[in-house]
Amino acid sequence: LRGELLAAIDAATALDALEAVRVQALGKQGAITGLLKTLGKLTPEERQEQGPRIHGLREAVTEALATAKAAMEQAALDARLASETVDMTLPVDGVAPGSVHPVSQVMDELAEIFADLGFAVATGPEVEDDWHNFTALNIPETHPARAMHDTFYLAGAHERPMVLRTHTSPVQIRTMTSSKPPIRIIAPGRVYRSDSDATHTPMFHQIEGLVIDKGITLGHLKWTLETFLKAFFERDDIVLRLRPSYFPFTEPSAEVDVGFTWKDGKRVIGGSGDAPGGGWMEVLGSGMVHRRVIEACGLDPDEWQGFAFGTGVDRLAMLKYGMDDLRPFFDGDLRWLKHYGFSA
Ligand code: PHE
Repeated sequence: LRGELLAAIDAATALDALEAVRVQALGKQGAITGLLKTLGKLTPEERQEQGPRIHGLREAVTEALATAKAAMEQAALDARLASETVDMTLPVDGVAPGSVHPVSQVMDELAEIFADLGFAVATGPEVEDDWHNFTALNIPETHPARAMHDTFYLAGAHERPMVLRTHTSPVQIRTMTSSKPPIRIIAPGRVYRSDSDATHTPMFHQIEGLVIDKGITLGHLKWTLETFLKAFFERDDIVLRLRPSYFPFTEPSAEVDVGFTWKDGKRVIGGSGDAPGGGWMEVLGSGMVHRRVIEACGLDPDEWQGFAFGTGVDRLAMLKYGMDDLRPFFDGDLRWLKHYGFSA
């Protein structure tokens, strides 16, 4: 019986075959169970002789079953591990590659355009103190512009009140206080205002421009903006209109409009906005840097003059790509990115 059972265990190639052997040997009607039952009917002498043999048989078979079962489970696990191996070096298929976000693409493009004009890229912190964001820019504490900016203030005690910068203009201050003129920089980055609708999001992007040198005039400003907008919109027929305006940190100040015409229900940048069927669209704030700002940075305004401009990067992207809602920029929706050709 022993040889028979051990051979059956050996021959079993699957768990259910092994289970059949177990039932056959150790189940209620099993052969070994049957033998164990006979022990009670034996004489003490016979039991002493048969008992150890039968128990020994049961142990041997139980052990063989356990060993065979463990081996089978190990083999099954090995097979599963082998079949589920992931080769990290294989190329992934079916997953679209990532792409640079349209806002980042536009910022890169702007940095390239201005690099050609000799502008370096400057940066500043998004958590800014109110001196850099307002005071040094000639926006004193009582100035209504502070309220107009829908500023996010940081809670807690700080030496100076801290804000999420409401524009990139504080980078003008940081640049003028940390480096000597002549200065030619652009400063792209995130800015924050507590405002939200189709064309306003609490976080958006601006790009600032600053030139400080000797004998800088509005003419330099206009030429720079014209050259930049022609390169950005990839059109030679860009027409600018400078409208007198007001910013505390520039004097005189001008808002800059570009002419456009309607085509298939969409605005197409180019041409004079005064042409039949045309219009003007505001794209920039700008002006000659206010003497008080130059002074606040420790420079002599009689020696150094310059111009500054600022514009919304997201807005420029919307104009260039014919988008009418700002919010999808920050939704991370692949369908939208694909629709505008920004994702594979
Ligand atoms: N900082 C201004 C704004 O956010 C834009 C601006 C920058 C205007 C530089 C003039 C000069 O609206």
